[in-house]
Amino acid sequence: MKIRIYPGDDDGVDSVCRELKSGKVVALPTETVYGLAADALRENSCRKIFDIKMRPLVDPLIVHFHSTSQLSKIAIVPEVLGRVGEEFWPGPLTVVLKKKRAVPDLVTAGRQSVAVRMPALGLARMVLEKSGLLLAAPSANPFGYVSPTRADHVVESLGDKIGSVLDGGECEIGLESTILDLTDPEKPAILRLGPIGEKELEDALGQRVALKVTSQNQGKNCEGLLAPGTLSKHYSPRVNLTLHSAGEMETIRLPYGIQGHANVYFQRPRHNRAAQPDTFWLSEGGDTKEAARNLFELLRNLDRRGYRTVNLEKAPPGGLGDAINDRLLRAAAKS
Ligand code: TXA
Ligand code: MG
Repeated sequence: MKIRIYPGDDDGVDSVCRELKSGKVVALPTETVYGLAADALRENSCRKIFDIKMRPLVDPLIVHFHSTSQLSKIAIVPEVLGRVGEEFWPGPLTVVLKKKRAVPDLVTAGRQSVAVRMPALGLARMVLEKSGLLLAAPSANPFGYVSPTRADHVVESLGDKIGSVLDGGECEIGLESTILDLTDPEKPAILRLGPIGEKELEDALGQRVALKVTSQNQGKNCEGLLAPGTLSKHYSPRVNLTLHSAGEMETIRLPYGIQGHANVYFQRPRHNRAAQPDTFWLSEGGDTKEAARNLFELLRNLDRRGYRTVNLEKAPPGGLGDAINDRLLRAAAKS
């Protein structure tokens, strides 16, 4: 199959809507990462998503929507949702709610809950509005690999498995959404760190939010995890990563000029270090948003260039830096 790249304009959106309505799977951009989308209420279409990604059937999908009337078709909407919905939707927040029967069990991997998100990117909203569909869409990468933040990332890793991708250029945020569990409105919990932080959610909700992010040692088994996709090894490039804390790499001796080895700083290092071969940085001046936007392209680029080992510097902790470091820890995990 040769993948078609639709331009991010009205015609592209119309073509994508036609394909989705006929039951096909299409990759499309959001403000976080590209998603692999299908009609969420059509089980056969959603099954294709699992096949294409080689995703285990125990790992549920996020359903994207654009209106509250659509949302109330698939989920029981608790009162507290209003507080976060008003503040962060449309945007990079996914909320787990109790599901209604309309959602196929395949989509929620048999759970009684469904993860929902209203994306902010104009192109994604246009597809949702024009098609009138609810769209199940996990990140458009093979299971376990790095999420795509550009149309050519989708082509690179799924080009021979899907028919088309809508090109929305580079994703503005570049990291997957924060996942907030509101199945028990009394006990909100973050299941995946992301662009919206714990403090912001606590302020909006007016109550404490627990952190239930899976730790580094839970192994490969999806079952029993709160957000089963957040395995210790995930977002994982082929290259072997050794992580350093923020600021550390400038102060230590690093291997230079070794075949198959690269060094990645969080921000542009001192001049003589920046001029070394096989040296990269996530941001020019230490801007965390810029680093988040560049992260997945950089990890993919290291694989493309065939590096085998990399020393990589983490983001300074706090806020978005914690979400970047979460992805880095998973990218570096051995299993
Ligand atoms: O930013 C994003 O969220 C992107 C864009 C495309 O929207 N999507 C994304 O989807 O990252 P995915 O499938 O790669 O990650 C979704 C995560 C998985 O870890 C999955 O296990 C978890 O959400 N999840 C989905 N439904 C769930 C549920 N009912 N309960 C708990 N976790 C759930
Ligand atoms: Mg994913």
